[in-house]
Amino acid sequence: KEIIILASGNGSNFESICVYFSKSKSIRVKQLITDNKDAFVIQRAKKLNVDYKIIDYHCFNNKSEYNHTLFEHLKSFNFDLIVLAGYMRILPDYIVNYYKGKIINIHPSLLPNYKGINAIARAFENKEKYTGITIHYVDEGVDTGKIIFQKKVRIKKSDTIESLEKRIHKIEHKTYPKIIKRVLAKNN
Ligand code: GRF
Repeated sequence: KEIIILASGNGSNFESICVYFSKSKSIRVKQLITDNKDAFVIQRAKKLNVDYKIIDYHCFNNKSEYNHTLFEHLKSFNFDLIVLAGYMRILPDYIVNYYKGKIINIHPSLLPNYKGINAIARAFENKEKYTGITIHYVDEGVDTGKIIFQKKVRIKKSDTIESLEKRIHKIEHKTYPKIIKRVLAKNN
């Protein structure tokens, strides 16, 4: 089985997924696609020897031209799953529909709470007792698709945004590869 990872920034989840599957005989990361030519995730792909493709968002006249190019690129090869890992753009409906049930995302909150950006900071600032992570299928909405997995994370009195972020990211890194494996086994 082959997976494609879409990421826009740091890429710590990308790295944890690549490392996890580097020992696998049946699952491999086929390619990283990024919309951001300056993203640190590209350095990680180079280091890990994973093929990558930069589709630089800012080189296009508009969103729809960018998405069209992304779609053509996706259609140019075969794979089993698209994994969003800090991909900061919204996939258009036609891509989501074409790959229905074949795109998953990770979000750092207990959805449906705190959809969208800065989810960790917003939960922290609202003095929530708990937040968490959610892995879900991608549908036409933003952070609205069918939930595959959630894990609660307690916000401690002693937490700062930084310590909370660190803890959540650790859980993401541990969890995402395992859930990807499970999803791929189910899609058999
Ligand atoms: C993660 O917190 C993920 O939940 C969210 O974006 C962040 C990506 O971090 N969707 P990284 O680029 O994998 O380090």
